[in-house]
Order: sequence, then structure tokens, then C-alpha cells
Amino acid sequence: MLLSQPPVEDIHMPGAWYDVVPSRTSDPITLDDGEVLDVRLLSPEDEKALYLFHENLSDRTKFERFHGVILHLSPAQLHYFTHIDQHTRVALIALKPSEPSSTVKTPTIVSVCRYDVIPSDPTVAELAIVVTDAYQGRGLATQMVERLFEYAKQDGIKEIRAAMLHENVRVHSLLKDVAARMGVEVVETRHANADYEEDEVSVILSA
Ligand SMILES: CC(C)(COP(=O)(O)OP(=O)(O)OC[C@H]1O[C@@H](n2cnc3c(N)ncnc32)[C@H](O)[C@@H]1OP(=O)(O)O)[C@@H](O)C(=O)NCCC(=O)NCCS
Repeated sequence: MLLSQPPVEDIHMPGAWYDVVPSRTSDPITLDDGEVLDVRLLSPEDEKALYLFHENLSDRTKFERFHGVILHLSPAQLHYFTHIDQHTRVALIALKPSEPSSTVKTPTIVSVCRYDVIPSDPTVAELAIVVTDAYQGRGLATQMVERLFEYAKQDGIKEIRAAMLHENVRVHSLLKDVAARMGVEVVETRHANADYEEDEVSVILSA
């Protein structure tokens, strides 16, 4: 399943990731209920925060994200997910703003939205989005996906694909709404395998 199990050969990225990381900054996101969240690119320093984020997801959210049960992220998976060049593998995170007086050093991630360019075609990327349970249904994923799609367009990505369980109506609806707002086409494909029914939604960012 998409991004769930890093291939062994990909765990150690060739070259130094920090040579190519763009200095993108992102404005805060205001949720439908007015709460404001910080947004920035995921960095290698976020391994612990990403581990804690995953630990706090419900089993259902983990299953919908990975299409399988990944109870805990392993050190290799944490390294794989956080050591990214932000061009061919891009990840945006939303965080609770830290209180000025807080002594807690590890930021609290509430959403991760990412894409990986597919090796066979640098104009096509695969999307994954997850929002922690307490923040679902408040408009966060919609804004994260919109923002990531803008990055993708800037980086010359023409098509973004997302794989999802057939019954995952929330992400279907989210992608269709974002595409409609951007005035771009969506193509849906249904796949079935022995374990579950999975759909693929492709958002065509440009021809
Ligand atoms: C799918 C997911 C990312 C949506 O995040 P979210 O922040 O709740 O999404 P939003 O609040 O922006 O809402 C997106 C859409 O889902 C709908 N929605 C949100 N919560 C819902 C709920 N509990 N029941 C039904 N629909 C819901 C919203 O109405 C919205 O639809 P609309 O665009 O037609 O208005 C989130 O539920 C999640 O993390 N799920 C587990 C991981 C996953 O499924 N990832 C996708 C595969 S990679």
C-alpha cells in the first residue's frame, strides 16, 4: 500500500537531503471553527513528533491511511517518512501552536499531507493525507490538500493519484471538492483485490 512499507533500498536516501530542501514557508490554517494551526514542511527533526502523531491515531484512521494495521511506526519507517527532499517527496504538517511559556519541545502534529513522485514519471505523484481523529471534520484536510496541490503545480506535477478504500467517502468527497474549486478534472478507477476494494482517484492538475 502507498507509503506504508518503505522498500528497504529506499530507507537510506542517496545524497544529502538538506542540499535540496526548498525554503517554503506556509501561512497558518484557520479551521471551520476558528482554531488556528501552524503549517510547515516536515523535517528530519520531526521523527519523535511523527511517532507520537501516529500513536494517537485511532485504529480506524490508521487502517484507512495504510489499508492495513500498522500499530506503531518503526525507526526505519520514521526515517523514511521524515528524510525527504521536498521536491520528489513532499510533506506538509499542521501543528498545534506552542504556548510561549511551554517547556514541551516536541511539537504536536495534527495532520500530515504528502506526495511522492512516482519513479517512472516525474509529472505524476501519489498523495496521502491523514488528520488526527480529534481534528477530523473541521476542514483541515481540505486546506492541507489544496496547499499541497499548489506546491505540486509549482513543481511541475501534472497528476496526483490517491489510493483509498472504496467505502472511504470522506476522502473521495474531499478530492472532488478540491478539484472542483481548482477547476480541474478528476478520474476515478476502481480496483478490487482479495483483501479489500480500493479506489484510485486521479486529480489532473494540468494537461
Ligand atoms: C479523510 C480525512 C483525511 C479527512 O480529513 P478531515 O480534516 O476530516 O476532512 P475535512 O474536514 O476537510 O472534510 C473533508 C470531507 O469529508 C467530509 N467529512 C468529514 N468528516 C466526516 C464524517 N465524520 N462523516 C462524513 N463525512 C465527513 C466533509 O464533509 C468533507 O466533505 P465535503 O468536501 O463534501 O464537505 C480524515 O478523515 C482522515 O485522516 N482519515 C484517515 C486517513 C485516510 O482515510 N486518508 C485517505 C487515504 S490516504
